[in-house]
Amino acid sequence: MATKEPLRLAEETLERAINTEGFPDTFTLLGREWTLRRGVFPGTVTAATEVMASALPYPVGGSFLEVGSGSGVISVTAALRGVASVTALDINTEAVANTEDNARLHGVESRVRSLHSDLFAALAPRERFDLVFWNVPWTWVPNDFSMSSRLHSAVFDPGYRAQARFIAEAHDHLAPGGRVLIGTADLADGALLERLAGDAGRRLRLLRRIRRIEVHRVMEYWLLELLEA
Ligand SMILES: C[S@@+](CC[C@H](N)C(=O)[O-])C[C@H]1O[C@@H](n2cnc3c(N)ncnc32)[C@H](O)[C@@H]1O
Repeated sequence: MATKEPLRLAEETLERAINTEGFPDTFTLLGREWTLRRGVFPGTVTAATEVMASALPYPVGGSFLEVGSGSGVISVTAALRGVASVTALDINTEAVANTEDNARLHGVESRVRSLHSDLFAALAPRERFDLVFWNVPWTWVPNDFSMSSRLHSAVFDPGYRAQARFIAEAHDHLAPGGRVLIGTADLADGALLERLAGDAGRRLRLLRRIRRIEVHRVMEYWLLELLEA
């Protein structure tokens, strides 16, 4: 469960990103420039975007589905690393456009398809991928938490309902031999995630644990694999 301090920090960060006049519309990450549309998760507020973009085992020559692509850093990096076909989904229409911006900026727009979608809803029924990934909104909040901006769904997941659906449905979109990975951190409710995996007849395996010393605390980022139980 989210404790008060991280919750307050997360809300302040969102508030700044949404309401600060002159908030940057570009940022530098992984040695590249990226555009940032207002209302889209800024890929540098935590190390999560960089950590996951660097740690993912991209299926070179294959297909990659990113749920919740935000500004598109991970999807574009996948294409730049040699993934043949990338599908980027986001529930936030500005994030969909932002992923397109950055795919164009880095010359991979022919291999990155960006769609507005609540989880997997916009996919055609038979679409299958070698790797399915979501860098999740890890902050647990109660079901009645006020999601007062579109940026809130980048950080908060009321009752972990979206993650429960992802865990239950992700394997339906896998090609033979494909993998489902989740990017999260030690601020997540790990026990609840394990329970959700168990309820869906699956289990979680910690693939990578990446520690970063940050301003407010030492953060541990977790790359988890969702497996058949
Ligand atoms: C932590 S942010 C990660 C953004 C980006 N992948 C990154 O690493 O910078 C989570 C993303 O998931 C998206 N999201 C939240 N709920 C979603 C849902 N039900 N369907 C699709 N995307 C969702 C948010 O809009 C946000 O862009």
